[in-house]
Order: sequence, then structure tokens, then C-alpha cells
Amino acid sequence: MADAVVFKTLPDVRKYIEHAAAELDRQSRYVPELLRVLDAARDIPDFERLMNDGCRGQRHAGADVFAKMSLREKVLANLITPETTLFRFTEGELEALDREIVPRLQGRKARLLIVPCSLGDEAFTAAAFLLKRGIDFEIHAFDIQPALIESARSGRLSFGFPLEYLDPPGKVAPALLQKIRFEVGNAFALPLQEGVKPFDVVLCRNFIGYFTPEKAQRLVERLASRVAPGGALFLDSFCLDKFPELHKPLTARRAVRVGHRPVYLFPQHLEQP
Ligand SMILES: C[S@@+](CC[C@H](N)C(=O)[O-])C[C@H]1O[C@@H](n2cnc3c(N)ncnc32)[C@H](O)[C@@H]1O
Repeated sequence: MADAVVFKTLPDVRKYIEHAAAELDRQSRYVPELLRVLDAARDIPDFERLMNDGCRGQRHAGADVFAKMSLREKVLANLITPETTLFRFTEGELEALDREIVPRLQGRKARLLIVPCSLGDEAFTAAAFLLKRGIDFEIHAFDIQPALIESARSGRLSFGFPLEYLDPPGKVAPALLQKIRFEVGNAFALPLQEGVKPFDVVLCRNFIGYFTPEKAQRLVERLASRVAPGGALFLDSFCLDKFPELHKPLTARRAVRVGHRPVYLFPQHLEQP
């Protein structure tokens, strides 16, 4: 996909970073870190070379995936990193899945929404989990970075391992990949068709905590509107501890938190808040 944003000078990049940072947590250390790299650069090619030589986004995407990103995408990968890994769930979270969510999915094809999905490991984890429990499923997974989606579609498992040091095997079989639709999409404006059926489980993990409280709340409201009656929203403890106000739009929908787990169960009959 062609990238419409072209930077001509280092001040253009700085302006872009500052604009993006306005929506991010003011405490984020990723912003000043990236600005320090920018300050050290002589010009745009030098800035890109410094990032390619090693930066947070490059480490988490893997050098080969990072190389496919435009300069703007590389900048974004340093502000909101593609960090992901298989089975990135605590024991308590897996227990909540087994006790509270699995019984709700029995006997039908479960529909899952995963956003953002980075290199796909979270979707592959969910698929492995459901396969082991004998639950049929379809997964819709979105990320804003085309290079990450391209990698996810290939079925390559990253294990959180530097991809350039990972030899095959470690690829999800095509028959299983057919059950997972990886698409480029912005979490705040998902490219889902009008009237698309709601999802039994919506996962949004290790993402919301990056933003300002206002932006986080708006996103949770949107995600909650995608949850089917009797479905579940799976967040992460980091964002819920950081933004206790996220509880509000969920309780307004009569969703109930599972103990201290970052999981909300929605009632069978949903009311509009
Ligand atoms: C830390 S990863 C989380 C991946 C996965 N949920 C997990 O927990 O392993 C954050 C991801 O958010 C993606 N991202 C950043 N801004 C986005 C947006 N507006 N919409 C969708 N994805 C976005 C990044 O490309 C990155 O892959």
C-alpha cells in the first residue's frame, strides 16, 4: 500500500511525531526516546539508517518486517510498538477464559475480533486455545501496519523471537489460516461492513494503555458496541489499572468484570447505554 505521507526534512518528521504524541500517554518514554534518535540524525536517510540499525520498533517487528515499512510506519512502530508473542496471557486470564468464556462458546462457531493483532501471534494463540477445546471459530484480526498484516497472513509464528534468527518450521497450516482474516485497519475506525454481526469475544490487549484517558475511553466504547449479547470483552490489566474510568462505559452496558481479571462478560440481552 502506498504511503501518502512523505517527509522531506527532519522538522517534518518532528512535526509528525509531536502530532501523533498528542494522542498518546504524556508519560510515554517512547516519544522522547524517538526524538533523541531524530536529534542525532544528520538528515532523513541518516534518521532511517539509525532506526534500521536497531530501535524498539525494529526489534519487535523483526528486521525483515521493519524493512518493509515506510518511514512513517517505522516512526509509528516506535511510538506504538509491534511487541507481541504467543501465549501472552497470565494463568488467571487463561482460567477466566476456560471458566467464563469457553462455556459461552460451546456448540456454535465462535466469532472473535482481535485488534490490534501485530504479527498475528495473539490470533494464533486464540486459535490454538479454541482448537484444544474443540470449539469451531472464525477470527477477524486488524492492525494498522500493512507490513505486520503481511507477515501475519503468511502464518509465520514469531514466538517473540528475533525473526531473522528463526528458521522454519513455525508456520500455521493453510487450513487453519483460512479461519483467520487478517486485515489492515485502524482500531478507531475499523473497516467492518455496516451491519456486520457482533462478536462473541473481542480482544484488545496491550494497546489501550498507550493513549490519553479520553482516547482510551472512546476506543473501549467502540469495542463494547461490537460485543454480541452474552459475549465477552478481553482487555489487559495494565490499561484497566491505569484508567479505572474505563469501567464506566462497560458497566453502563451491564457488563460484569470477572474478579480482578481484565475480562468483562456482557448480558444476554443488551441495552443501549
Ligand atoms: C503492543 S502491539 C499489541 C499486539 C497484540 N494485541 C498483543 O497483545 O500481543 C500494538 C499494536 O498496535 C498497532 N497499532 C498502532 N496504532 C493502531 C491503530 N490506530 N489501529 C490499529 N492498530 C494499531 C501497532 O502496529 C502494534 O502492532
